[in-house]
Amino acid sequence: MSSIANHLALIEAEIKKKKFGQEPSSLYEPIRYIMKLGGKRLRPLLTLLSYSLYKKSVSDIVSYACAVEAFHNFTLMHDDIMDKAPVRRGKPTVHKKWNLSTAILSGDVMLVKVYEIFSGLDADKFKDVVITFNSCASEVCEGQQWDMEFEQSSRVNEKEYLEMIRRKTAVLLGFSLELGAILANASEEDRKALREFGINIGMGFQLRDDLLDAYADPKKFGKQIGGDIIANKKTFLLIKAFENARGKNKAELNRWLTSSKFNKKEKISAVKQIYDDLKIQRLTEQKIDHFFVRGFKSLDKLDSSLDTSQLADFTRSMINRQI
Ligand code: IPE
Ligand code: IPE
Ligand code: MG
Ligand code: MG
Ligand code: MG
Repeated sequence: MSSIANHLALIEAEIKKKKFGQEPSSLYEPIRYIMKLGGKRLRPLLTLLSYSLYKKSVSDIVSYACAVEAFHNFTLMHDDIMDKAPVRRGKPTVHKKWNLSTAILSGDVMLVKVYEIFSGLDADKFKDVVITFNSCASEVCEGQQWDMEFEQSSRVNEKEYLEMIRRKTAVLLGFSLELGAILANASEEDRKALREFGINIGMGFQLRDDLLDAYADPKKFGKQIGGDIIANKKTFLLIKAFENARGKNKAELNRWLTSSKFNKKEKISAVKQIYDDLKIQRLTEQKIDHFFVRGFKSLDKLDSSLDTSQLADFTRSMINRQI
């Protein structure tokens, strides 16, 4: 088995055995549901790959890696409420399958469980991990708040967008990698380089997510296609379209963004037509590449005795992901 497959098997086994809590089962069942829906398990995998730069066996830290996955799934449970998303990983979202209160409260207790898992660490490590995690988790909320506020604004520029996605998405990839380094007692320099690497690839990752939201294959994607367009999300695609649209395209775009009553399918297809006219996909791909290149430069700052080939290979496979 390749070590990526091996890491993934360890992650899946850990998630499978975790109950999170007993009673009321209506509180804990949604947690088991979302955790077992699958997903790429990218974040815990990054933690294990980062730790593996320093240590042979990862088995002692799989539960901490899965704490990051639990945090990620908590953010998704609440994100799906905020984004009015009907499907996640090809299945109904928690607030649709159960109800809003359940999705709020199950999400809340999931966050508590993250700390519970981290409390298994030795006191010094626990403090270090929690301080680092708290700063990341606060930034995720800050990014999410901006994401929501930007829906109502027509004046979001690229710089503001990039800072929003750095917080809502990229810092968690940074933390996932830094966590592996902390647990492996890596140097401060390596910690920083791994965090920066994670943040840069996280930026590319969210840009790809924006692109897929409009253009993914609906059979594979597992999320509603065009949700960002329906919600007037200020994605990189929309910001670039606004920057570049002239004449009829500009008027059309403005009309779709300001109309409160519309047919969803019509809006998605009209906005995508404008994206196509303006070659927005290509611009987004270029930006994705820019951040991955920057990420690889951060990787070069790591201690030169480390074998980064696995992490680098895995990262390359993320660049053009289809789901
Ligand atoms: C979705 O994350 C949320 C974003 C930050 C884009 P993933 O694309 O990693 O979702 P799963 O866990 O694989 O389903
Ligand atoms: C989500 O961004 C980021 C977080 C959950 C913090 P999106 O809203 O784009 O993620 P998806 O597309 O629903 O997975
Ligand atoms: Mg969102
Ligand atoms: Mg969402
Ligand atoms: Mg998205």
